[in-house]
Amino acid sequence: MEMITAKSAGFCFGVKRAIDMVYEQIACFKGIPIYTYGPIIHNEAVVKDLENKGVCVINDVEQLKTIQTGTVIIRSHGVAQNIHNIIAEKGLGCVDATCPFVKRIHNIVEKESKAGKQIIVIGNQGHPEVEGITGWAEGPVFVAESEADAKSFIADKDISCCIVSQTTFNYNKFKELVDIFKKKGYNGNVVNTICNATEERQIEAGLIATEVDVMIVIGGKHSSNTRKLYEICRKKCASTYFIQTLEDLQLDLPTATALIGITAGASTPKNIIEEVQDYVRVNF
Ligand code: F3S
Repeated sequence: MEMITAKSAGFCFGVKRAIDMVYEQIACFKGIPIYTYGPIIHNEAVVKDLENKGVCVINDVEQLKTIQTGTVIIRSHGVAQNIHNIIAEKGLGCVDATCPFVKRIHNIVEKESKAGKQIIVIGNQGHPEVEGITGWAEGPVFVAESEADAKSFIADKDISCCIVSQTTFNYNKFKELVDIFKKKGYNGNVVNTICNATEERQIEAGLIATEVDVMIVIGGKHSSNTRKLYEICRKKCASTYFIQTLEDLQLDLPTATALIGITAGASTPKNIIEEVQDYVRVNF
């Protein structure tokens, strides 16, 4: 049995940076509480470890309003401008671990909406990153995650649009939705803000899934980028497994399995990938 592990599997730059920032805060703990606004990543083991080290998760804006003292760490997804405002108004410390690629989208949305453009975000409705992005628009903002959404959009044709994307959105689907907006005759600019890390991980996963007999995708249940990786791989390889940790892996290998592929979402720690690799190496 041979095994191929995607080079791009696991933490991306932005997630690694955010986690490092949390551990730096723990290391220089000054006796004041440390919070993350939402779980720092979609990985229960990492969040548990942080909890054990005294880092609490703030789940929503109402909870944030009840906090009297401490430092709030903004995760790589970023947040809407009003969350920054609340933190500042309450006099809480703020460590902004928003991924610079997401911050770039906030800046584009803020600038273009101030210039009077209609903002269109291509991304998943309700995803925290999308909610953060829309929260930087100063005027109308529309979120499209499907063809139906894009087709249903009606705007004043005299107003220019600015289209951006959630960083983890599928590139081909993004292009399809942009085409729908273009066919509707809207003027404006399209900024492909899909992160290269996601695109590279998706392309590599698809290529590996084409070659292998079994594909293992590792990542958090709530991680949209892992789910997308799974979808891409599943299309190329019928025997694709989505697991969170090694414990979920119950390989029912098709006969004549010669090659197993492994990839992992952006929130998957290296040690979990290595555990799966070791398991495959030892058992097959
Ligand atoms: Fe940033 Fe891209 Fe990761 S936007 S958080 S480096 S997927």
